[in-house]
Amino acid sequence: RHHILSLADFTPDEYDTVLQTANSFREVLSRRTKKVPTLQGQVVANLFFESSTRTRSSFELAAKRLSADTLNFAPSTSSLSKGETILDTAKTYLAMGTDIMVIRHREAGVPQAIANEMDRLGVKVGVLNAGDGQHEHPSQALLDLFTITTLLDPEHPHLALLKDKKIAIVGDILHSRVARSNLWSLTASGAEVHLAGPPTLLPQLFADYVGGEERGVSGEGRGTQTIFSPHTPYPTPHTPHPRKLFLHWSLEPALRDADFVMTLRLQKERMTGHLLPSLREYHQQFGITRDRLKLCKPDVKVLHPGPVNRGVEISSDLMDDPRCSLISQQVTSGVAVRMALLYLMGSSKL
Ligand code: CP
Repeated sequence: RHHILSLADFTPDEYDTVLQTANSFREVLSRRTKKVPTLQGQVVANLFFESSTRTRSSFELAAKRLSADTLNFAPSTSSLSKGETILDTAKTYLAMGTDIMVIRHREAGVPQAIANEMDRLGVKVGVLNAGDGQHEHPSQALLDLFTITTLLDPEHPHLALLKDKKIAIVGDILHSRVARSNLWSLTASGAEVHLAGPPTLLPQLFADYVGGEERGVSGEGRGTQTIFSPHTPYPTPHTPHPRKLFLHWSLEPALRDADFVMTLRLQKERMTGHLLPSLREYHQQFGITRDRLKLCKPDVKVLHPGPVNRGVEISSDLMDDPRCSLISQQVTSGVAVRMALLYLMGSSKL
């Protein structure tokens, strides 16, 4: 695999390779020196055309821990402001000897377009999607997967540990590239994935994957909607079982007996006026609170990709409670997972 742009076609073996490689880097990061010479001499360019705290910094740290040289790009101080195009910007970094480009952009498809251009030029540069519009955020979903699976088996994290676990993804699914990448990885594991949010923030997109009678959101929109049913297995050869994905317009059926709850940020910057709910009303209906977690399994864990609107999608006290919040652990996992991705791409092992 030359580029990592989406998890749609990731195989179970590839997930396990990433998880096991990340686990070995987790061990490296626990040492005093924290550094390996694996990518010495290689150049990793972080081309973030959209703002980021976690992803950009952890890709930079991951590259440095692998002894790569890093280049960081900020649109406001770059020649984009003089009219240079995105592809010409990428080609400029190519001319400096970049081996891996990590790309974030507010428009879906930009990392793919740069990858296509690199392939057209016949150069051996890997492109990694660090979040493109509402499309995908593969490294976030992989670090979420790593966070959960290392909790279940710290020695041997692997995809199948999630089989038959119930995972609720709650909130602004419509605008969430994190949800889109996570639904590929989590449903590939055999977990039951339940999406819940206000109808205005649930996408039509998922209806496109549904076949036969179960196409779209039907009935009154309450209760359970099977998206990938046993009769309509998702048409890729990579999953050994039908994907189990359910859509809810209310919180309760998604949370009931859940093992993990992923909350998502309300992406106000991507919402046109009519979509933006009252934040107080949203919290009342879909905010994750200690009280609401009583519906879940007793040892339920809560995740959030960050950044968080405190007191909106999750209550502040819950977010800071290390007994059930995995939010800090997700950020920590990000470094090991991104080391794994850069290493596997840099050494053509994925
Ligand atoms: N989760 C995530 O992508 O965070 P940043 O926008 O801070 O990178």
